[in-house]
Amino acid sequence: MRSIVIFYSKSGNTLTVANTIKKLLGAHTKEITDFTVHRTILDYLFPNILDSSRIQPRKVDIDYYETIFIGTPVWLGSITPAIKKIIDNMDFKNKNIILFTTTKGIGDEIAMRKLTKLVNKHNGNIIGRFSIISNGGTEKLINCTNMALEDLNLI
Ligand SMILES: Cc1cc2nc3c(=O)[nH]c(=O)nc-3n(C[C@H](O)[C@H](O)[C@H](O)COP(=O)(O)O)c2cc1C
Repeated sequence: MRSIVIFYSKSGNTLTVANTIKKLLGAHTKEITDFTVHRTILDYLFPNILDSSRIQPRKVDIDYYETIFIGTPVWLGSITPAIKKIIDNMDFKNKNIILFTTTKGIGDEIAMRKLTKLVNKHNGNIIGRFSIISNGGTEKLINCTNMALEDLNLI
């Protein structure tokens, strides 16, 4: 399976999940960087925060890949601006998509619904979803990712 993990990570949890998928499936990874500065808690109260990020790269070439993982932390019950923006810049037609979030366990279902809606809008064929609780350190993140991939019959 030719797969790539497109993800954003601020403090490293989503990065750990992405690297675990890379290791277990031989997937490629593409981390999205958000150069937006001075974001305050007040910013998150306004929906347009989701369109405010300045990301690098702006787009990922996915022609080669059969399966695309898209991963984001949950931020205030939503997805991150960086992931919103990269999805908005892309078309996932004819691609199988697996969505994942990392979360402290609050609002992840709502965030997953938003992610699903957004990827559907950009023509992705969603074949799997999982959320990883990021309370227990790196080893737990790796184990939970392992289990999620097993549940999806990918390993
Ligand atoms: C600005 C901000 C908002 C967050 N909002 C939520 C939230 O609504 N629900 C939740 O469960 N965790 C929330 N978290 C925690 C992160 O989702 C969680 O720690 C995640 O694993 C971080 O991923 P990262 O290390 O890849 O950045 C928030 C973290 C930040 C920085």
